[in-house]
Amino acid sequence: MEKIIIHGGRPLNGEIPVSGMKNAAVAIILAAIMTEDKCVIENLPCISDVEISLELLAERGVKIKYLNKTTVEIDSTFMRPDLKGHDDLARKMRASYYLAGALLARYGRAKVGLPGGCDFGVRPIDQHIKGFEALGAKVSVEGGNIDAVAENGLHGASVYMDVVSVGATINVMLAAVKAEGTTVIENAAHEPHVVDTANFLNACGADISGAGTDTIRIRGVRQLHGVTYAIIPDMIEAGTYLILGAATGGRLKVSNIIPKHVDSLTAKLKEMGAVLEEEDEAITVTRNGPLHKVNIKTQPYPGFPTDLNPQMCVLLCLAEGTSNLTEGVWENRFRYVEELKRMGAVIKVEGRNAVVEGVGALSAAPVRALDLRAGAAMVVAGLAAQGRTEIDEIHHIQRGYEDIITKLVSVGADIRMVSVPDNIFDKAN
Ligand code: EPU
Repeated sequence: MEKIIIHGGRPLNGEIPVSGMKNAAVAIILAAIMTEDKCVIENLPCISDVEISLELLAERGVKIKYLNKTTVEIDSTFMRPDLKGHDDLARKMRASYYLAGALLARYGRAKVGLPGGCDFGVRPIDQHIKGFEALGAKVSVEGGNIDAVAENGLHGASVYMDVVSVGATINVMLAAVKAEGTTVIENAAHEPHVVDTANFLNACGADISGAGTDTIRIRGVRQLHGVTYAIIPDMIEAGTYLILGAATGGRLKVSNIIPKHVDSLTAKLKEMGAVLEEEDEAITVTRNGPLHKVNIKTQPYPGFPTDLNPQMCVLLCLAEGTSNLTEGVWENRFRYVEELKRMGAVIKVEGRNAVVEGVGALSAAPVRALDLRAGAAMVVAGLAAQGRTEIDEIHHIQRGYEDIITKLVSVGADIRMVSVPDNIFDKAN
């Protein structure tokens, strides 16, 4: 059992380089098997979700070779066609559902354990299934597995997404890449990771146009080939550190980013009174005075990202005045509020809306990382609050933030990870 211990209340100064994007990496790693060839993927973040994605492939006979810390060669030439269900691994993260789209594209059938991931209430996969079925697959969900079979091959089709879904857009795109004919996905998600996955597949020989817009057109090709491809920077990691800079004061440069991807966040930070200096691949955040209240609604890209909801809530606690934070993507994203209340936050949640009273400062307390971004929010809160904050259940944070401790120590944070024997932890609870 590991915990994070923070002594907060210090301004942070320096530069934090952002790693590759988790949500692009997990899709591209699994999509690499569609090439039946060797792919070299660069700028991979060193996080547990990437390790799980690689393990999901390794247990199916794919050869994985780390060329350096952030570059992996994935050789799926001799992948075993035996389809394994009941994946305990698949349950460990959300993106394992991409294996269904990728296997379907390669073998015309797929059996994958149902995905896990953060708990935001109901996380249906009906749009993934609808897309696979439109392409000609028979899909059943039984015994904890998604089982998809396209006995007569996959055929291009028109797929209208009833909700804007990142996962369903990418999954249907994967399944359609080698289908016969043209597939059109309407009401597609616009997220940069959708575009990155399409760019990767096109580099492998796919014919995908329109990624990043409402309508994605995929003309089926017979074969893909291996490539070397670098993952884009993680906009949520970037956003987390920009929020952290505004929360703690000092002068924090967040580098190796695509500033355009965090436009919705920087607009809100400016509205709150933070000062942002933008360069081609970096943004520096400082703060001259108190932060002001602001109203935010999370939405699919290019709206304000739901994956910055908890971190931004911390900043709203530190601002002057009362802000409204509305969750527009997930049914239940506010579980972390109870943890923030332990640190002195005054927040009232009603359904998908949180009314956040600016309390000026938070106070240190023992808290839990209830999910990945909630965990990141506890780190932001702990670094902003005076005193000693202890964060439990940090495996959630390790799913998505590469070297978080090292990166934060390098800008002056007093933060460390400690191992606590499980039995001592149990007694303490
Ligand atoms: N939805 C459906 N049916 C579906 C799929 C989704 O109704 O078949 C609904 C969901 O219930 C939700 C909305 O559509 O209300 C959006 O869900 P989406 O499918 O876009 O989410 P996801 O693909 O499962 C990805 C990210 C999440 C991020 C969301 C929204 C990955 C691996 N995960 O999830 O990232 O919150 O998009 O942007 O890409 C994170 O990184 O911390 C994280 C949770």
